[in-house]
Amino acid sequence: MTRPNRLTELDVHLTAADAEAELRADARAGLTAVPKELPPKYFYDARGSELFEKITELPEYYPTRTERALLEESVAEIAEASGADTVVELGSGSSAKTRLLLDAFRATGSLRRYVPQDVSEAALRGALEALEGEYPDLELHGVVGDFTKDLAGLPTGGRRMIAFLGGTIGNLRPAERAAFLAHVRSVLEPGEQLLLGTGLVIDEPTLLAAYDDAAGVTAEFNRNVLYVLNRELHADFVPEAFAHVAAWEAEDEWIEMRLRAEKAMRVRVEELDLTVDFAEGEEMRTEISAKFRPEGVREMLAEAGFDLGRWWSDEDRRFALSLATAV
Ligand code: AVJ
Repeated sequence: MTRPNRLTELDVHLTAADAEAELRADARAGLTAVPKELPPKYFYDARGSELFEKITELPEYYPTRTERALLEESVAEIAEASGADTVVELGSGSSAKTRLLLDAFRATGSLRRYVPQDVSEAALRGALEALEGEYPDLELHGVVGDFTKDLAGLPTGGRRMIAFLGGTIGNLRPAERAAFLAHVRSVLEPGEQLLLGTGLVIDEPTLLAAYDDAAGVTAEFNRNVLYVLNRELHADFVPEAFAHVAAWEAEDEWIEMRLRAEKAMRVRVEELDLTVDFAEGEEMRTEISAKFRPEGVREMLAEAGFDLGRWWSDEDRRFALSLATAV
């Protein structure tokens, strides 16, 4: 990109028009559903991404720092066990974990190529430009796309390891999760790998605090989806009239975030030519964040055609990294 002779490529599988059409379809489906629901991926515009960064620095929000520390202490073993020559990172963003992965895989002598994949073309371009300078010998191949759909466009060849970190798999419902893992498996050859980060089931007070911080950053992050709809779809939500709710659903073993209408409201979504009524106290689900048990991780991987080879966890068993091989 910056240097014409550089081994950098960028494939765009997702255009702004595709993204807009999808937002319209998702918003219409979710706002007319009973109960109402919005997909968590729409939290992440520029403001939402900044709020998420702030969340990762909150004392209560343990997942990011726990995963990072775990990755730091185990990444050499992961690279050794993997032996991949291509590291694919799904939802890479401006990821702080990228360099940890690349340095460790480079140290094994096998690393040849890095393939970051993200929905944001701007974030990807920025990341690639920085990496070109830092890793002059590394082949870089960016893929702009939605990780749930566009994996067929990943570059082939070599021995690939797909990293899906951050516990983001927990934001998918069980059926979506199974479909996603089956999709990942379908684009891999036997012997290629998946490195999966998962939050683990821990005590309820710690979980709830992580999703309902004292400073109210998560509440603002949650309400941000309404600002996104106001801007993108010319809706007239009053975000401050919605309260942040975080609940632990013990049966499903996931955290649910919801927005609760504090009074009865009628909302107009101009771009959809849609009027939506909220009753006082009505709750709209905006995210699930599932936590897992070791056996559950092994089973969901096995069902998708992966063999869980090795597993790393922090001493408090709050987070896990699984290295699985396509069978
Ligand atoms: C993006 C999956 C890491 O589910 O914990 C943070 C998003 N939601 N606080 C998560 C999130 C509320 C987060 N991940």
